[in-house]
Amino acid sequence: MSTERALVTGASHGLGLALATRLAAEGHTVTGVGSRPASEIGEVPFGYVQADLARPDTHAGIVTELGGAVDLVVHSAVRYSPAGRAPTFTEHEEILRVNALAPYHLTLGLLAAQPEDRPCTVVMVNSESMFHADRDAAPYAASKAALRLLTAGLAEACRSRPIAVATLLLGPLDDDQKQADLRRVAEKLNLPLADVTRRFLRKSNPDLVIDHLIAYEACLRSIRYIADLGRTANGMVLRLDGGSAGSLI
Ligand SMILES: NC(=O)c1ccc[n+]([C@@H]2O[C@H](COP(=O)([O-])OP(=O)(O)OC[C@H]3O[C@@H](n4cnc5c(N)ncnc54)[C@H](OP(=O)(O)O)[C@@H]3O)[C@@H](O)[C@H]2O)c1
Repeated sequence: MSTERALVTGASHGLGLALATRLAAEGHTVTGVGSRPASEIGEVPFGYVQADLARPDTHAGIVTELGGAVDLVVHSAVRYSPAGRAPTFTEHEEILRVNALAPYHLTLGLLAAQPEDRPCTVVMVNSESMFHADRDAAPYAASKAALRLLTAGLAEACRSRPIAVATLLLGPLDDDQKQADLRRVAEKLNLPLADVTRRFLRKSNPDLVIDHLIAYEACLRSIRYIADLGRTANGMVLRLDGGSAGSLI
């Protein structure tokens, strides 16, 4: 990857933490943003900024921190729908703010602060859930659908700059929570973990054509691939989602 200065949002947990850690290990100067205090994530090999991305007044501080110099931006921060109930209006607004409005407006701020001729790759981490809204996932799915359209608008606005604004559209990730849940079920049913994972994936989405969860490493490699394409990746949608939307999309 030909990038040097990177910003990763959602860097205090999950995919964002893994990406920020790996990018830093590969020699990038990484700024990671999360909402919890630094004391809660322990030692990390990147500069950590605590900021509530749902509040637009925090965005200017992040732009200033980067000083108009960023080569790669990965928007991974996310708020999920609450489990088993509809979100309150305020919670729903927070989901939209974190998942769609923050990546859009923070990107506008970052790109406005950069020299017009400076190359930059922006990767919006999106989700196959936008294709499969049900009553529980709808607020999250709607925020991701909004992010997809806002990303397309940013890409169009960047067509005459050396900038790529791309989407990395993911399916079910191999994260600690899913691993723990699946291991618990496997132990309870006395079945191999691989069998339980296969059953979980087939039940969760019949369109999936993979029998395994998607590794963080595959996400990192996809981001490298997008970044290596440079401005040619503007408008690109890279689907690493196990075919979750079915045959035609
Ligand atoms: N997990 C999956 O199976 C899956 C599948 C498809 C797509 N994705 C996508 O992959 C990305 C990462 O998902 P994940 O499951 O790895 O996420 P996660 O573990 O839930 O972590 C979410 C991150 O976002 C941060 N965040 C949330 N609200 C914030 C706010 N207001 N201000 C600043 N930071 C905030 C969190 O910070 P704090 O924890 O400090 O609040 C945390 O670092 C998301 O875009 C998601 O849509 C995930």
